[in-house]
Amino acid sequence: ADPDPLQDFCVANLNATISVNGFPCKPISEVTSEDFFFSGLMNEGNTSNAFGSAVTLGNVLEFPGLNTLGISMNRVDFAPGGINPPHSHPRATESGVVIEGNLLVGFVTTNNVYYYKILSAGQMFVIPRGLVHFQKNVGEGKAHTFTAFNSHFPGAVIFSTTLFASTPSIPNEVLTQTFQVEEEVIKSIKSKFGA
Ligand code: GLV
Ligand code: MN
Repeated sequence: ADPDPLQDFCVANLNATISVNGFPCKPISEVTSEDFFFSGLMNEGNTSNAFGSAVTLGNVLEFPGLNTLGISMNRVDFAPGGINPPHSHPRATESGVVIEGNLLVGFVTTNNVYYYKILSAGQMFVIPRGLVHFQKNVGEGKAHTFTAFNSHFPGAVIFSTTLFASTPSIPNEVLTQTFQVEEEVIKSIKSKFGA
């Protein structure tokens, strides 16, 4: 989904003071082999949190060599029962392959149709660009998957935190009206996200 590159590569200078659509390139004389390799997805993420999951990012901010090349990857680890909660990527289609465990992978279309399947190691999925999706570990043990995106910076809108943990906070009356519940329910959910 990203625009086509205009040169072989453009290793990002993340500290540049100018702002462009993407990041400016660091000088070619400073580019080394190290710029094109990334070890950040080697290790299991820390799943000791309320969701029992951890997304380790491999986007342009973590791996500047991806800049302008239109691709990136994540690693997602799951404790038993863990969930990567409903979210969407405004700038990319996502594909993934399950490496370990059994994952329920689901997404919902703009017509509110839910598509889903339980996958085991070696099986692959695709999440069309921008659609709301999640993965849940439905197996006995741990699980993990690698995901790939057609953007160097797919972005993620995580609906729970977007609605209940924004800064500043969305007014309770907006959320009570949206979800047709009493204010106590909204306060309770907000409290879970530290709002
Ligand atoms: C999984 O959905 C991911 O965004 O990496
Ligand atoms: Mn995703």
